[in-house]
Amino acid sequence: MKFFVDTADIKQIEDLISTGFVDGVTTNPSLIAKQGSDMKEIIKNICSLIEGPVSAEVTATDHETMLKEGEYLASIATNVAVKVPLTVDGLKTCKKLREREIMVNVTLCFSAAQALLAAKAGASFISPFVGRLDDIGEKGMDLIEDIVIIYENYGFDTEVLVASVRTIQHVIDAALIGANVATLPPKILHELYNHQLTDKGLQAFLDDWKKTSQSILPK
Ligand code: E4P
Repeated sequence: MKFFVDTADIKQIEDLISTGFVDGVTTNPSLIAKQGSDMKEIIKNICSLIEGPVSAEVTATDHETMLKEGEYLASIATNVAVKVPLTVDGLKTCKKLREREIMVNVTLCFSAAQALLAAKAGASFISPFVGRLDDIGEKGMDLIEDIVIIYENYGFDTEVLVASVRTIQHVIDAALIGANVATLPPKILHELYNHQLTDKGLQAFLDDWKKTSQSILPK
């Protein structure tokens, strides 16, 4: 299972990459806006830090302009995955960009029918938003299960990228279902390796070790 990080904050991305667990990055217009700097520069910087896919989202809503924006974003670096919304114009744009061998992440997916269309349009990634579905009282993870089954039924290559992740349980459930990727807010990635019993156990070992006055490395 691959982990992408869902942020446009360069410092945070550098710090997260140093853990060795980051396979790619996802951004969206809201995350870029939070940084208050030039989008092209942000994407260029992120792409220079990591070899894996870096999602950069179009902001036009009509097919023609989306296509131009997508081509422009893809020209920033070879590892840009152009993010398009799951609208009919977005799907048309996905198809065209894929014909030009540009990676495409179809975002804002909230139903299995939408995910099926994205796969038929040749999407490299489909991004179902589990947290936002949970927010409206639905079970986001049920959607992941459905998409994984549908894609397996037809052998689609589109990777299931679990987005809008809010909890560690989302990550565990996504892994149990066999989703290809989860994009994680930085906080969740750090939470994955933290456990209070690890901290407590480590402290007890260190306290006992101190009593022996030994050191592992020669002095
Ligand atoms: C992923 O590509 C999206 O940008 C992101 O996961 C959305 O998450 P949110 O619902 O927490 O904003």
